[in-house]
Amino acid sequence: MTSKSHWENVYTKSSAKRVGWYRQHLQTSLEMIAATGAGLEARVIDIGGGAATLVDDLLGYGYERITVLDWSGAALSLTRSRLGNLASKVQWIEGDVKNVELPPDHYDIWHDRAVFHFLTDAADRRKYMDKLQRSLSGDGHVVIATFAPEAPPKCSGLNVQRYTPELLQIELGENFALEAQKPELHVTPGGVKQMYWYCRFRRLASPQ
Ligand SMILES: C[S@@+](CC[C@H](N)C(=O)[O-])C[C@H]1O[C@@H](n2cnc3c(N)ncnc32)[C@H](O)[C@@H]1O
Repeated sequence: MTSKSHWENVYTKSSAKRVGWYRQHLQTSLEMIAATGAGLEARVIDIGGGAATLVDDLLGYGYERITVLDWSGAALSLTRSRLGNLASKVQWIEGDVKNVELPPDHYDIWHDRAVFHFLTDAADRRKYMDKLQRSLSGDGHVVIATFAPEAPPKCSGLNVQRYTPELLQIELGENFALEAQKPELHVTPGGVKQMYWYCRFRRLASPQ
């Protein structure tokens, strides 16, 4: 069971570069975001962006409408301080993706690396998918990375649900087309191997 206090502890007790999911750059995410073809004017939301450098790199590429959402205020503070003056170009939301208010029909790209997989409860997954479905634009894209079946059963000491691209497709439903998938072997700063699946989906027009 994931909670705000768990994540506040993580980011106040360990350095952002020592957490298990740390990568200097989220290269595969960046490639998949670019491959959506949505352009630099796309509205991008990074769900559970934490202290990741994805937002720095997106700003560097010229994306101008970026939102970073995270349950942990400590994580957002770390990222904002790192960005300095650039932080004012980003919209920051501190909240639980399952319950937060998000604008309807708004985001062109929904990015999530290692957040959805913490939702081990079916009711929580439904709440997450409801937020995604409502706030994503009609032809929006989803770039999502989760632990693969061969990864350890826990991440950050919490149980996770592990996915294949086919299982993620089932979670998103038939209104999403799987356009790209890529496995990635991540090695934590402590040397633990964790296999991830990255998937890129496109929302299909709803049937008339
Ligand atoms: C494993 S970390 C991944 C961080 C980042 N996406 C990355 O790849 O470096 C999970 C992140 O999701 C955040 N998080 C976990 N559950 C969340 C929720 N229900 N709503 C919003 N953020 C959440 C945590 O605070 C943490 O920053």
